[in-house]
Amino acid sequence: MRKNIVAGNWKMNKTLQEGIALAKELNEVLANEKPNCDVVICTPFIHLASVTPLVDPAKIGVGAENCADKESGAFTGEVSAAMVASTGAKYVILGHSERRAYYHETIETLAVKVRLALDNGLTPIFCVGEVLEDREAGKQNEVVHEQLAGSLFDLTAEDFSKIVIAYEPVWAIGTGKTATAAQAQEMHAFIRRAIADKYGKEVADNTSILYGGSCKASNAKELFANPDVDGGLIGGASLKAADFKGIIDAFN
Ligand code: PGA
Repeated sequence: MRKNIVAGNWKMNKTLQEGIALAKELNEVLANEKPNCDVVICTPFIHLASVTPLVDPAKIGVGAENCADKESGAFTGEVSAAMVASTGAKYVILGHSERRAYYHETIETLAVKVRLALDNGLTPIFCVGEVLEDREAGKQNEVVHEQLAGSLFDLTAEDFSKIVIAYEPVWAIGTGKTATAAQAQEMHAFIRRAIADKYGKEVADNTSILYGGSCKASNAKELFANPDVDGGLIGGASLKAADFKGIIDAFN
């Protein structure tokens, strides 16, 4: 059966020293606990090699927030999937709406990144989600389906089953405006149906679909209680160990 996952997305926050301190604190907070979900922290590239050996790999997985769409070579400033994997990181967020909007990542580029991540043994946390305009026009399902199909549905069922999906309505990210539990469930069920149509019910039932967008300790329980919401991708509330722990505890 699918896993419940609470994943942090630190975005462009924390110096190396601050990031090390946060990872250590989280590791300590979880030391005597048995979380009822997988816990992941996705950090800026420069933190990965330092943070990975600091956390108990049985409790906390580490991931990057992006990787290059090229294998290696003359691509100044880029970081490849192989480089991410070489730090001991196991996950990579791909297709975050901030990358799509500010860095013009396309459905096609993301398909290449997913391929490279899988080839290097990384688990992609693949983000989909509509902007407010799409939702107001009732086009959210269409938009999300296009993002899924365009970047993922050329994968074999075996490869697809290695992907974690994160539904993040763009209008809810960092805005304090959370999707209601009903809105989240409705979209998660739609995503699971789309996966079932493409890969069959078993693959769909085994896919973890996380919710992201102003998820915090106070609303996590209600969101995660939905049958198709398998955890969260957490931005702001992953930057303090106590806040993040509060969300992990929503699975207790
Ligand atoms: P937020 O970000 O929790 O700060 O809204 C979530 C995300 O963008 O992954």
